[in-house]
Amino acid sequence: MVTQAIIPLAGLGTRLLPLSSVIPKELLPINGKPNLEYILEECIQAGIKQFIFVVPKNRPIIKKYFFNDNFYKKIIKKKKNDKRLKEVFKRIKKYQRMIKFVYQNKPEGTGQAVLKCKKYLKGTHFLMLLADDLIVKKNCSKEMIALHKKTKGSIIATKRVEKKTVSRWGILGFKNRSKNSFLINEVIEKPKLREAPSNYAIIGRYILPKKILSVLKNQRKGKGGEIHITDAIKTLVKRNEKFYGNIFRGKYIDCGTLQGFINSGLTISKYL
Ligand code: G1P
Repeated sequence: MVTQAIIPLAGLGTRLLPLSSVIPKELLPINGKPNLEYILEECIQAGIKQFIFVVPKNRPIIKKYFFNDNFYKKIIKKKKNDKRLKEVFKRIKKYQRMIKFVYQNKPEGTGQAVLKCKKYLKGTHFLMLLADDLIVKKNCSKEMIALHKKTKGSIIATKRVEKKTVSRWGILGFKNRSKNSFLINEVIEKPKLREAPSNYAIIGRYILPKKILSVLKNQRKGKGGEIHITDAIKTLVKRNEKFYGNIFRGKYIDCGTLQGFINSGLTISKYL
């Protein structure tokens, strides 16, 4: 059973500067709430019981967002009849009970973030989500968990993207395609158009095997001096570890870029 989700939150958010210089990109509001909360709801509906947030020590604001009981208690005392206030506090408390923090003080990549979670990981597989990849309408994590149950393999959420944009994404090569999934035989991070094995892109949701930790431990730094999860996945795929692409057909919003972030509010309000 997949019950734990890792959410790396130590990135610099360079593409969203200057906003992200004061507010972590994961807390920027989209239609009234931070994108991180959309991700938490998606996971909870999919059966996730614990979140592991990977944050830098010098960015306490994410912790404060979820662990600020005294603040809420004080205003609830003052405004006893404010129903909304109580509802908000209840929602935050629900998340609070499910969150553990681990620290990654330098932005050394998603692979490094996963390594830092080692002491908390329990089952054979865990979910990892990139917080600037938003999904609405259909629950992508739920679909992936169902495919994992069926195949017992690792799963990567994927979507067909325009060919000319392949160098923005991690791109999958595959065989044995059915309507909603395929067996992955290649993974390339941000390939040039002529190197891309397809135009199926990774959309920031992964069900990974715990054994990926031993690959990551011995992995050399990749592009930009970071330890990339994509490189570790590639190693496992080459060792014939079963990784399936879950073809996602719901609405996907890339909030990691300024244009995507600007569009996200409009798109989300259409679908909610
Ligand atoms: C990351 C992943 C990439 C994936 C993308 C989805 O890239 O490394 O494989 O396709 O997220 O948003 P980043 O957005 O950090 O450049």
